[in-house]
Amino acid sequence: MATVEHAQTPPRDPALRESSLFDRRTIAEIQRAAREGIYDIRGFGAKRPVPHFDDLLFLGASMSRYPLEGYRERCDTDVTIGTRFAGKPLHLTIPITIAGMSFGALSGPAKEALGRGATEMGTSTTTGDGGMTPEERGHSETLIYQLLPSRYGMNPDDLRRADAIEIVVGQGAKPGGGGMLLGHKISDRVAQMRDLPKGIDQRSACRHPDWTGPDDLEIKIHELREITDWEKPILIKVGATRTYFDVALAVKAGADAVVLDGMQGGTAATQDVFIEHVGIPILAAIPQAVASLQELGMHRQVQLIVSGGIRSGADVAKALALGADAVSIGTAALIAMGDNAPELDESYRAIGSAAGFYDDWQAGLDPAGISTQDDELAARFDPELGGRRIANYLRTMTLEAQTLARACGKSHLHNLEPEDLVALTVEAAAMARVPLAGTSWIPGRNGDL
Ligand SMILES: Cc1cc2nc3c(=O)[nH]c(=O)nc-3n(C[C@H](O)[C@H](O)[C@H](O)COP(=O)(O)O)c2cc1C
Repeated sequence: MATVEHAQTPPRDPALRESSLFDRRTIAEIQRAAREGIYDIRGFGAKRPVPHFDDLLFLGASMSRYPLEGYRERCDTDVTIGTRFAGKPLHLTIPITIAGMSFGALSGPAKEALGRGATEMGTSTTTGDGGMTPEERGHSETLIYQLLPSRYGMNPDDLRRADAIEIVVGQGAKPGGGGMLLGHKISDRVAQMRDLPKGIDQRSACRHPDWTGPDDLEIKIHELREITDWEKPILIKVGATRTYFDVALAVKAGADAVVLDGMQGGTAATQDVFIEHVGIPILAAIPQAVASLQELGMHRQVQLIVSGGIRSGADVAKALALGADAVSIGTAALIAMGDNAPELDESYRAIGSAAGFYDDWQAGLDPAGISTQDDELAARFDPELGGRRIANYLRTMTLEAQTLARACGKSHLHNLEPEDLVALTVEAAAMARVPLAGTSWIPGRNGDL
């Protein structure tokens, strides 16, 4: 249960001094743990500040560079994923995709809305730990099918129905951890799709049962290509940790694309300690991935899709400038559809939270009808309206990214480059491998992986 509001209440007496080590949130968490005897599980992503895209700025054109004219000169946005081996690569109109979020974590209508919005904007959406629903397939022109350690809902027919396959090795919010779906979200339909008993907490595997390392993974990928006639792109998703090596191993195993999810990435249900303390920020991971791909001669041959805290066109443009081919969004898509909407504040307060703070996506009580399997709550959510909001949001982010790219003189978002960026802090400069603003200094430049 969120303790955020409590932590933000100002002290009554200004002379009272709060400990920075034992601040009110820490005290509340110790008290909660002492009461309940179990770790906190929640949704959303990391809440503490870590270096992020906000720590970077673009160097717009002036005398030494020419900008492009916003209304007359084109700035293209398309991306093709799966050019390495797949017979039918994905051609997306915009480089912003919808990340894998399971039916189970999200309601059927919410999954449908994601498909509607993505399709309107010519981009892809992704299944999740729970299999493919007919609504989602029906409303998604381009649907990526996840193959997870749990193998819930996995079958060859759905593999063939998909447009691409994503092998999930890890997630940014919990690299090294498995899935979690608490009993109150395991409805009849979810139970049937996952082959699980209804109403019982489910914790799924953190390792794939049918391969143990990159050599076996290569065989598994071969098998998937045979099942799907060598047509579908095969993506490998990893949580950002030892990124340089993971990307190299994914390339070796035969991936068409790598999905790289940073530690700020969203989750439907994970231990808070995991969300906040495992993995590295996407800002630090992208340059490692790009260096790995470049050294193998595979940058832009094996596409790099990055996620973990993407919120705006500025984040998109910065991720692409660092060398990603596309980005993926989870949390922001839920917010665009109505999660944490201010008009629901009273309903959030009734369940111990508030609009802007709600993170109990594991609980199934979502007043917005998005992260729930309760039929009554889910019926509050209109998938057509949700789809329009997703499309509007994707359109806005694309326009923002184009605005920034044109200001840097680029006729395609993919022409953005690290040279267009500077960092506001030494940490961000070192991680993103761009100069500290006003200097030519890139800390640790001759270093390391
Ligand atoms: C509600 C929810 C459910 C998720 N379910 C899955 C899943 O089934 N499989 C998976 O690989 N990642 C899952 N994720 C993680 C997303 O695919 C993605 O990596 C993450 O949300 C990206 O970060 P962002 O939320 O900051 O955009 C889920 C995330 C959310 C918010």
